Order: sequence, then structure tokens, then C-alpha cells
Amino acid sequence: MPTKKKKTSKAKSTAKKAPEKKVEDIDEDELLEDLLQEDEEKSTSSSKKTIKSADSSLEDGEEGEKGDSIELNGLTSINYNIKDLPGVGATIAKKLADAGYNTVNAIALTPARMLVQEGGIGDKTAQKIIAAAREALNIGFKTADIVWERRKSLARISTNSNALDDLLGGGGIETGGLTEFYGEYRTGKTQIMHQLCVNVQLSKSEGGIQGKALYVDTEGTFRPERLIQMAEAKGLDYNEVLKNVIYARAYSSDHQVMLIKDSMKIIAEQNIKLIIMDSLISHFRAEYIGRGTLASRQQLLNLHLHDLLRLAEMYPDVAVVVSNQVQSKPDVFFGDPTKSTGGNVVAHGATVRIYLRKGKGDQRVAKMIDAPNLPEGEAVFRLAEEGILDVE
Ligand SMILES: Nc1ncnc2c1ncn2[C@@H]1O[C@H](COP(=O)(O)OP(=O)(O)O)[C@@H](O)[C@H]1O
Ligand SMILES: [Mg+2]
Repeated sequence: MPTKKKKTSKAKSTAKKAPEKKVEDIDEDELLEDLLQEDEEKSTSSSKKTIKSADSSLEDGEEGEKGDSIELNGLTSINYNIKDLPGVGATIAKKLADAGYNTVNAIALTPARMLVQEGGIGDKTAQKIIAAAREALNIGFKTADIVWERRKSLARISTNSNALDDLLGGGGIETGGLTEFYGEYRTGKTQIMHQLCVNVQLSKSEGGIQGKALYVDTEGTFRPERLIQMAEAKGLDYNEVLKNVIYARAYSSDHQVMLIKDSMKIIAEQNIKLIIMDSLISHFRAEYIGRGTLASRQQLLNLHLHDLLRLAEMYPDVAVVVSNQVQSKPDVFFGDPTKSTGGNVVAHGATVRIYLRKGKGDQRVAKMIDAPNLPEGEAVFRLAEEGILDVE
């Protein structure tokens, strides 16, 4: 971490070489396959190829820092191993862990059919294991004070603008949830995401949570230069800052879905506290053209959003932030330009939704559209070389 982070030496000492196998040995998600079966243009081979290239870009950022502990830092750390669950022996534990389900929490929150498809275990076994995991974690009806305990334990990542942080409820983006920034081109979505990648690394008193960021870029607009400028503006060592941002370029919607599924492993192994998806639906929009494909697109997007939401649920100390571009020129299947693209699917999926629009010069206006416990309101901030700043 850029600030005095004591973890580094420990992480190095437990470091071992990352296993060679990764996404290549996970078969195409059969569920998605089913949804897409009418869509003949999608060839399995091309999607496999793109996954490999981004896999190596992920590995670039890892620098052999992988620990072999399955325990998570902070709130989600669960003291017992998935092997402690009844019905989970060494073989099943390995299958599940290889598919990314390496915590009791992850198993408890995953639909049985996904454990079957991704973990390659039987349906009955999956149901039994999930039931056991839920019981172990006491998932089910609970009193509000328990829910309050969880809410109190959530942390925040500052956007670097007090005005914007206040709009978000004070302190910035909340962990354990999904936050969506939507707006037209050049309204600052990508800039905010870069800023969060820097600020997540700060100490608590400085507005961060001393964690790393995972950045999935679907549009090719990720710029390390911007991270350097933002880091320097905060007096941080940019080399450290860059090392703590793990980047993957997603080349298709399938690839994007796969990267998020794969991210579970990385979150558990590294100290990831922020997951960025910039942007959520550009690939879906480009690949599914015409009204005939709208239903399957929305279905696939729905599954993807639920993967993202589930990540936030599984890891209460991780914030998931997505961007969504809206167009000033309404097109046939996106309707109202001030509604985020993806329509109802996204609206129901995101916990907090912020609409961005341009103001005077470098100023931008953020409007709170939807949040379970926050008032509607607006905040003005500005885009500068130093990053996201308050207007003087
Ligand atoms: N180095 C910089 N210095 C100042 N402003 C910048 C810099 N880089 C980008 N910006 C601002 O950010 C805007 C782009 O915002 P961005 O977040 O990329 O838009 P989008 O909402 O499309 O993701 C530019 O138009 C500019 O106003
Ligand atoms: Mg952008």
C-alpha cells in the first residue's frame, strides 16, 4: 500500500507461485451457453482466446504476491474451512475452490445450479453443502439488530470530493453493495473510477480502506497515467499505487462475465476491496443488436449483474462500482436517455445509482437517483488533473 502498510512483508513471505491453470480449465458456462444457443455468431473458440490474453494481463499485476490462505481480511474472514462443512471432503473442497468458491460465505450465497455447473459436483451434493453453509452462517430470518451490526461494519471509500461523498451518505462509496454511475460520454465516470482505485488504498483516516482494486475495462479507457497524476497529487508513491490496481481488459460480454466469475479467486487471495466494471453494458449493447435479441441480452445482463451483486454480498468489505453510459440520442431499444442503459435490469440490480451530467467548464453534477436510505439530492464536483475535486 502507498501508506505505511504493514501487510506487505507478511504477504511476501507467504507468497507462492500462482498456479498455472486458471480460466482455461473452466468450461464455458453452460448456463450462459443455454441462453445464447440461438445466437449462432458466438463461437466458443474466440471467447476462449480472448480470456487467455486478459488472463495474462491479470497476472502481470500479481507479481507473485498470491498467498495460499483462503481466509479473507476483515469482516468476511471465516475461521473455518469449507472442508468443515458436512459432505465436503478433500475432492469436493478442491473442485469448489478451483471454481472460486473457497469460503463458506461464497457457497452459502450461490445458487445450487451454479455450484453444479461451475464446480462440477452433483446436484444433491450442492444442495446439501449450501444448506450446511447457510446453517453455519446462520443465514435466514434474523432480527434487525443483527442486520444493523452488518450495516455498521460496512466501510467507505472516498471519491476525493466532500460534496460527492456527502451525497453518497458521507464518506463516499459504501462497501458491501453495488454503486452505479451513469451518464453521457465525458461526464466523469471513468475519472471517478480511477480516483477510487487510488483512494481505496489510503488509510481509514484518509478516506480509504487500505485495499487493492480490481479494474475490468470494457472500453479501453483505463489510463495508468491518470492514476499516477492522482497518486502524486495526494503525495503517494505512484509505483506502489499502480501495483495495487489489478487490471483486466474485457474483450466481449462473455469475457466480462467470465472475468467477474474468476475474480472471486483473486479477491480471496489478494486484499481486494474495490471492484470496478467500466462499463457495464457496452459489450452487451454492441453484441446484441436489434429487438429480436433484446430478451436474451437482458437475461444475460441480469445474470451478470447478479454475479456482481452477489460479490458485494459475499464480501461486505468490498465495494462494487459500475459505470453505465447513456446516450443523448435515444435509440430504438434504450428508451429514455436519462435512464441508464440496460433498463430495468440495472435499475433493480444497483443498490445506489448516481446520474452524472456536465456543468460549467470542468464541473460535473451528480444526482442521487436511487438509494435505499439516502435522500435525493445533487452535488457539484470538478474534473482536474489531480483527479476528482470539490469546486472551490
Ligand atoms: N489529465 C486531465 N486533466 C484534467 N481533466 C481531465 C484529464 N483527463 C480527463 N479529464 C477530464 O475527464 C473527462 C473525461 O471523463 P471520463 O470520466 O473519461 O468520461 P466518461 O464519463 O465518458 O467515462 C475529460 O473530458 C476531461 O474533462
Ligand atoms: Mg468512461
